[in-house]
Amino acid sequence: MSWFTNLGITTKFTFILTLCMVALFIFGALYGYQRQQKLIIMGEVDNARIIARQIIEAREYMSEVLTDEPSRNYNLVPQVVATRIAQRITKNTSYYVRQVSLRFRNPANRPDPYEEGQLKGFVNGATKESFHIVHGAQGESLRYLLPMKTEKSCLECHGSYETAPSFVQQRFPRGHSSYNYHPGEIIGAVSVTIPLAELYRAMSLNLRHDLITRGAMFLLVLLAMGYVIHRAVINPVSLVARSITRVARTGTFSDRITQRGHDEIGQLIAAFNEMMAELERKTEQSRESEERYRNFIRMARSAVVTFMEDGKIVISNDKAERLLGKSRQEIIGEDFYRFIEAGGRLREKIGTRLAAGDDGMIVETREHRVHSASGDWKPFEIALSASKTEGKTMVTAILRDLSDQGSRRI
Ligand code: HEC
Repeated sequence: MSWFTNLGITTKFTFILTLCMVALFIFGALYGYQRQQKLIIMGEVDNARIIARQIIEAREYMSEVLTDEPSRNYNLVPQVVATRIAQRITKNTSYYVRQVSLRFRNPANRPDPYEEGQLKGFVNGATKESFHIVHGAQGESLRYLLPMKTEKSCLECHGSYETAPSFVQQRFPRGHSSYNYHPGEIIGAVSVTIPLAELYRAMSLNLRHDLITRGAMFLLVLLAMGYVIHRAVINPVSLVARSITRVARTGTFSDRITQRGHDEIGQLIAAFNEMMAELERKTEQSRESEERYRNFIRMARSAVVTFMEDGKIVISNDKAERLLGKSRQEIIGEDFYRFIEAGGRLREKIGTRLAAGDDGMIVETREHRVHSASGDWKPFEIALSASKTEGKTMVTAILRDLSDQGSRRI
């Protein structure tokens, strides 16, 4: 995951938000599509049911009111009336309505394999209606069947052959399977077929519009959030980071950042400014004390040098320069112990005392011989004191000339 931690905040934010949104998107789209599909199919089942009922009602009504009209006009046979009405109702729609029977009179009413299966189910008393989504040659379609029961009035033509009107007897001879129904027996079914391709097309168009508007909204949210995060978090934080880099480079603590609000970022900036002010005050203090120290050394009557643990001289006064016969530039950076006779021993001694943590006052008043400007070795009393600043040990040596007993101590 280190590649992720190395990304910028905006990129991380955009990445996570995009992932969440895409997941929501896919879930929403799938869920929405399924819900819509279910609703549409239930709506179509309702439509099919209404059509089927209308047709059954029309047939039953005709069957009840007719006397001998069909014998003169075949168009008044209930089945024929119902077929015509169905044709009129579904004109200019994609709906396709048939009335089918397992024991059909008209071959046009022969059930297809699907209808046959459903009719057998009705005959067995399995269901009161049936609907399924069926894959056919023209894609998916909804198939709905509502069974028809034999009414008393139907028996006139669907009862026994003997009692049937002669026009029926002539067309459908004795022994034809379309006779001998009993009241309540399933005689056939209204079958409605609704192709779904067109509906699905409309649905996917809807879905596309939905996705486009959601995508636009998502982009807007992303942009707005990105803008807010940039302004409220990233800009101020990078200001602080830049300022810290500048401090590290220049060593000055004068930078301040304008604080805009009092939120967490505002508090960070306030803390940063406070820290900078404190550091500025501290450095000013230490600069002043260092200055005072230098002045003090400069004014001292004895020769004074301050050197690091390794002997490298960092501060010297005029007396020391005169004693050693070198300019300040020449002395700074020189090894202090080189000027002392048997300086190596002194270095070792001081080294061991410092290593033992004895970084307070080290007094060393023994007589040493120092290599003076005139080129000879002069006796000196050397007082040494060590101090620790910022983790570095510095040793200050005060050299008192023993050959000149008149000189006073500082
Ligand atoms: C007046 C006579 C008559 C009456 C009453 C009658 N039918 Fe029919 N029925 C016919 C004839 C004739 C056909 C064949 C129609 C055709 O040629 O398409 C038929 C066809 C049908 C069919 C179509 C299947 C097939 O056999 O081709 C069904 C279903 C049907 N009748 C149900 C009923 C029901 C239910 C009733 C009572 C509500 C009823 N019929 C009343 C004469 C009648």
